[in-house]
Amino acid sequence: MKQALIIGASSAIAKALIEELEQQQVEVTSVSRSQLERSPHYLVDYDDEAINEWVKELNGQRFDYIYICNGVLHGQGVAPEKSLSAFNEQQFSEVIRANTLVPMLWLKHTPVLVPRNEPSVVTIFSARVGSISDNRLGGWYSYRASKAALNMLVKTASVEVRRTHKQAKFVLFHPGTTDTPLSKPFQKNVPEHKLFTPAFVAQRLRELTLETQDLPECGYFDWDKSAIQF
Ligand SMILES: NC(=O)c1ccc[n+]([C@@H]2O[C@H](COP(=O)([O-])OP(=O)(O)OC[C@H]3O[C@@H](n4cnc5c(N)ncnc54)[C@H](OP(=O)(O)O)[C@@H]3O)[C@@H](O)[C@H]2O)c1
Repeated sequence: MKQALIIGASSAIAKALIEELEQQQVEVTSVSRSQLERSPHYLVDYDDEAINEWVKELNGQRFDYIYICNGVLHGQGVAPEKSLSAFNEQQFSEVIRANTLVPMLWLKHTPVLVPRNEPSVVTIFSARVGSISDNRLGGWYSYRASKAALNMLVKTASVEVRRTHKQAKFVLFHPGTTDTPLSKPFQKNVPEHKLFTPAFVAQRLRELTLETQDLPECGYFDWDKSAIQF
């Protein structure tokens, strides 16, 4: 059986993805800060030491697919900035930590988490607003910057990991506006047919990532499989 590791598994999209993968007979290991009614599931604090420890305890287990789903857009003391004057240090640090640093703390273990001589796909949830060339609207400074930095870190990691793991592929994924707690406050102006369910997006993501041969070494993709310019 193929093996998948889902990090940030309490995300609404991640939960739908777990179901989608299990229906395809993929065995899923999940990791989150919160408990989920499933197994195998692990509670891990997202700091360097806890992640190192958890990876060490895996004892060489490898995953054909990894999905890193973490991301915040709003929350206590965090709201996407509408203007420069709304930018502040604390908010920027929190968003960068959740959206960029935490995924990178996992990504650094890729060489021991994916098989060396077999195909694998590592998917990291990004967002279209992380595209520098696509930025026409402005605003959302911290979220945009956190995803743009994430894109660069993933691209850089892909270059290094593929020197030793020639069949490893990397996907930066934009789910489209999806009905989850993350997008709730921003759904007002989204036409109904453009607001996706987590199940719909999970199906698209499964179709994109389970067949590895057509994927580039490191691609940035929309939910409909079209490429996004970095
Ligand atoms: N929904 C959308 O419209 C949309 C659009 C574009 C991109 N995305 C991206 O899709 C991904 C999944 O989002 P979602 O919509 O499914 O959101 P969600 O249901 O709100 O899930 C939040 C995710 O972020 C993690 N998280 C929350 N606070 C965190 C913190 N302080 N530090 C580290 N991780 C934290 C959670 O991990 P735990 O399981 O550990 O709690 C969970 O994986 C995110 O990367 C988001 O940026 C979503």
